[in-house]
Amino acid sequence: MIHSTIGNTPLRKDDYLSAKYNTTILVKEEFHNPGKSSKDRAAWFMVEDAIRNKKIKEGGTFVEASSGNTGISIALIAQELGYKAKIFVSASCSDEKIALLESYGASIERCDNSNGLHVFNSTQYLAQAYAANHDNTYFTNQYYNSNNIKAHYRTTGPELWEQTNGAVTHVIAGVGTGGSISGIGRFLKEQRRSIKIWGVEPLNSVYTFFLNQQPIPEDLPKFDDIEGIGRTFIPGSFDRNAVDRIFQVERLVSLHAAIAYRESTDELVGFSSAAVLAALETHSNEMKFSEDDVVVLFFPDHGDRYLHKIYHSAEVKQLILAANYEPLS
Ligand SMILES: Cc1ncc(COP(=O)(O)O)c(C=O)c1O
Repeated sequence: MIHSTIGNTPLRKDDYLSAKYNTTILVKEEFHNPGKSSKDRAAWFMVEDAIRNKKIKEGGTFVEASSGNTGISIALIAQELGYKAKIFVSASCSDEKIALLESYGASIERCDNSNGLHVFNSTQYLAQAYAANHDNTYFTNQYYNSNNIKAHYRTTGPELWEQTNGAVTHVIAGVGTGGSISGIGRFLKEQRRSIKIWGVEPLNSVYTFFLNQQPIPEDLPKFDDIEGIGRTFIPGSFDRNAVDRIFQVERLVSLHAAIAYRESTDELVGFSSAAVLAALETHSNEMKFSEDDVVVLFFPDHGDRYLHKIYHSAEVKQLILAANYEPLS
């Protein structure tokens, strides 16, 4: 059964980053999940809950709004269990993710944006409307489904605690629905309140305002496009009590971080993982790590999902050259 292979992903010591920031840096490699992302965890909890509680009948259709990874996980699990999947993706979804969704038999609807249930051309609105209009469908609704946080509270958080023998001092993770960071943070803070849980979002995303209890400016520009993270609204799956701080990063700095990391380590990281690297790069003065810290970076997926978007893109190469970054250390 597929669910027995979800989770228990490796926590790798990153020698390059540990030396660079003079502390212990560990990478939680979520691309070892069967659907190759952290989203398998939330997808399994949401699907299993729906089947167990008879919210969907045999052979029915799971419906989700997803920039790709949750959709891929739902499609994979639904196929394995004999259900169908209909996934509403935003225009920015990478070609690799679309191809994977198709390979798992999902039906795909491309939408203009993922700006929430109140925006009529968004993935969330259209997914909800589809489920409301069709029999034997279930909208997993990762933005408001408590099983999203629960998946990480029950699995990812405990894994990090055990894999570090309780030594973890910081977790840094990108924030999309907020489910990963909220579940991890909720569990770890129950073990030791002082563990720092830091989120990363694109420039002009709204979590920073929310956490600082500041009003969201009406003229806020569109947030930087970093696939998987950032929001224009605050979903129910973000628990402000589980998160200490959010750092904002720019798209271009994240692209550069991905390419620089590959040059230094030969590793291909996903876009939101690159955003976490960019946060380290641009906010390390505020992060103030000590030698004794044990810092976990949450890498939700792998760079092989972004070959066209990042690593093989002539446009990205040009942008980075034009930005004239300092040579890499
Ligand atoms: C690549 C990637 N990174 C980060 C996230 C954010 O995770 P969460 O939705 O749990 O905040 C997602 C969510 O879809 C994702 O696909």
